[in-house]
Amino acid sequence: MPYNAPDFRHRAQLTEMMDEPCSREQLRACLRDLALTNRLTMAYRPLLRWLDTLKITQPRLADPLHILDVGCGYGDSLRRIERWAKRRGIAVGLTGIDLNPDATVIAADASPAESAIQWVSANVFDYTPRQPIDLVVSSLFTHHLDEDDIVRFLRWMERHAQIGWFINDLSRAPFPYHFFRIFSKLARLHPFVQHDGPVSIARAFRPAEWRDLCAAAGLGLQDVQIQSFKPARLCVARRKPQAKEEPQ
Ligand SMILES: C[S@@+](CC[C@H](N)C(=O)[O-])C[C@H]1O[C@@H](n2cnc3c(N)ncnc32)[C@H](O)[C@@H]1O
Repeated sequence: MPYNAPDFRHRAQLTEMMDEPCSREQLRACLRDLALTNRLTMAYRPLLRWLDTLKITQPRLADPLHILDVGCGYGDSLRRIERWAKRRGIAVGLTGIDLNPDATVIAADASPAESAIQWVSANVFDYTPRQPIDLVVSSLFTHHLDEDDIVRFLRWMERHAQIGWFINDLSRAPFPYHFFRIFSKLARLHPFVQHDGPVSIARAFRPAEWRDLCAAAGLGLQDVQIQSFKPARLCVARRKPQAKEEPQ
């Protein structure tokens, strides 16, 4: 990572090493260290808290709660959700999709034998779910997209998620950028993570940008919740007004 820091006023136009062609073993080592970083930074907490706020109880749902994780990578978020659901006695159907076919193989390899998560290799924009989806979630995915595709993704989620959706991504700011640049080197994280971590922060968002993106997708301020979580996360949550219980 060059030491001339980006201009944090705008999303950086930089590429990530994990998006370039690499071997499956390189990707596996990178995703493993990314999952370690997720654990160390308590990155699952915003999503799990949001799931709790939905107050899902099985009797309200005729079928298992179907959750789709877009850009699932190593699959660690979905495995956390599987544990969350098991503890609460909520029957779930979990699907992780990723553009990179190696990622879904790696996610399946990293899952325990008893896990029932389905792993699908697909571009989200070409993906037609085989069964209705209740919730669409993603983590560290949206900053990989340009603004037009983010608006497209928001519309895609609005169309497919019956109950709501949750975007867990990064907040663009100098402190986390520099902190992670130094920490990842000291911790000797995978070279892709050392490079891509700060780049991801530089490509990430500020709340006003999410407000504009949501507005472009036809969503008003009252429709979404944009919330920061320490360290360096910025999340966008959408709960549709009782979509599952009161079909229109
Ligand atoms: C930075 S990784 C995030 C992995 C994981 N969600 C996490 O939080 O650690 C982003 C993932 O999004 C996937 N991806 C990028 N564009 C995609 C698309 N259009 N459809 C599905 N997955 C995509 C990439 O292949 C990559 O595995």
